[in-house]
Amino acid sequence: MTLQSLPTTPFAGQLPGTSGLRKKVTVFQQPRYLENFVQALFDVLHGEHGLATGQTLVLGGDGRFHNRTAVQTILKMAAARGYARVLLGRGGILSTPAASAVIRRHGASGGIILSASHNPGGPDGDFGIKYNAANGGPAPEKLTQAIYERTQALERVQISDAADIAIDMLGMQQIEDTTVEVIDPVEDHATVLRGLFDFDAIRALFARGFRLRYDAMWAVGGPYAKAIIEGELGAPAGTVVHAEPLEDFGGLHPDPNPAYADDLVAHLMAADAPDMGAASDGDADRNMILGRGFLVSPSDSLAVLTAHATKVPGYAQGLKGVARSMPTSTAVDRVAKAMGIACYETPTGWKFFGNLLDAGQVTLCGEESYGTGSDHVREKDGLWAVLFWLNLVAVTGQSVEQLVRGVWKEHGRCVYSRHDYDGIATDKANALMAELRAQLPSLGGSTVAGQQIAWADDFSYTDPVDGSVSQKQGVRVVLEDSSRVVFRLSGTGTEGATLRVYLERHEPDAGRQDIPAQTALAPLIALAEAVARIRHHTGMDAPTVMT
Ligand code: G1P
Ligand code: ZN
Repeated sequence: MTLQSLPTTPFAGQLPGTSGLRKKVTVFQQPRYLENFVQALFDVLHGEHGLATGQTLVLGGDGRFHNRTAVQTILKMAAARGYARVLLGRGGILSTPAASAVIRRHGASGGIILSASHNPGGPDGDFGIKYNAANGGPAPEKLTQAIYERTQALERVQISDAADIAIDMLGMQQIEDTTVEVIDPVEDHATVLRGLFDFDAIRALFARGFRLRYDAMWAVGGPYAKAIIEGELGAPAGTVVHAEPLEDFGGLHPDPNPAYADDLVAHLMAADAPDMGAASDGDADRNMILGRGFLVSPSDSLAVLTAHATKVPGYAQGLKGVARSMPTSTAVDRVAKAMGIACYETPTGWKFFGNLLDAGQVTLCGEESYGTGSDHVREKDGLWAVLFWLNLVAVTGQSVEQLVRGVWKEHGRCVYSRHDYDGIATDKANALMAELRAQLPSLGGSTVAGQQIAWADDFSYTDPVDGSVSQKQGVRVVLEDSSRVVFRLSGTGTEGATLRVYLERHEPDAGRQDIPAQTALAPLIALAEAVARIRHHTGMDAPTVMT
């Protein structure tokens, strides 16, 4: 084995987005593309000529196509960088929340997660890489920005020429002076979850015949859900479906929402539907919850978990506070207010919750994009959310639907929908946002599409812990009655641009809470079109996906 220093030249566009660097697999397959990014990361972390002496790196991914190849490259680069130890999930596998748990439990200095989350996989699909820090959470913007800047100045990459190691076998192996320890990908995460929930109560629930259908969407959540829900909690075999992680997710889109988890929705709407449905995404940090014949909106899910948190052992002491991303509905704000706890509003992306969690200011957080989590790790956690719901159903004796309706009854329903316009030419999407922003000074107080706008702005966030400022996080148009439309461009796509339009209206009247969301939101949909001229800019008559 020898350490090599190989010449390289910068690639354009290695700037991480909402959650890491995501590109087509074919982009990552270019010689030195991955190497450059990892070299830049290590240069920023350890200094250009510095070593990671004595440090532990965690490594794993969602098992998508190219995961196994990328793992071998990164191991050899970690060895060249002098890491004392790399903890690698067996087979190169670690779900995103599990990676966070491993970093925290083993005192690692950080971890590299290989995932493009819910984006499709396979040779023509997407791949991704992100770095999580010692707290187990996604690197903050100042770090991702520094990595990007370093990618633009690279001249060499350092890598060992060692042979590939066996990644499917537990135990220790050596590359240069670095010990690579292949670990069970489930164990640490399971230990953390066991400490939070009443497994006996959930076991008893299944023993009483409660039926769950957990759709792992052919992704990495499968092994975790099988081990815990079927293995430890005694749910019948077959409760977890599509449980085997496939490199291309069976050609499907591993995103747990009504559009892409349509098979699960169909099962929960059927006459003989199970009591509860759940799904997780490509890297198992997202979750979707369904009751029998009933879809739970992610924003409502966060509100329900907040309202009932003290019924679960891990949160019996109460919540320090809660946080939601700005476009997430205000349902949790209303619950938090009634409970007398703080509620923070952050930009989109889990990295913005990290400081609040580390500072002990919040316990639960969530996003409208099917993400919920807590201070047990520093990522959103799909399985955690499912266990939380199971625990609540077990100890309250209420169904999923009853739990949601309870919150609606007390706080009103935040009727909510997100409309996505995918595959817009980037310049057209930028023009739409620029036109919106240009109107901001005059929107407040004006009447558009028959509706009186109270105020409008471009969301800017000052982190209450470190004072860092993130600007231009989404245009908000808010009416007198607190109804609102939010516009922002996605930061996770790999082709063109995606416009996200978030619509929310509060309905206090129980007699009107069952009006279908798209009907109840029709005036806001008209307002969105009037202010943003979506049709004009995109040439699209309807959203690609509505959740
Ligand atoms: C999307 C979601 C966001 C989530 C992120 C990573 O980002 O909207 O809430 O944190 O995926 O899962 P976006 O594509 O909107 O930038
Ligand atoms: Zn994900």
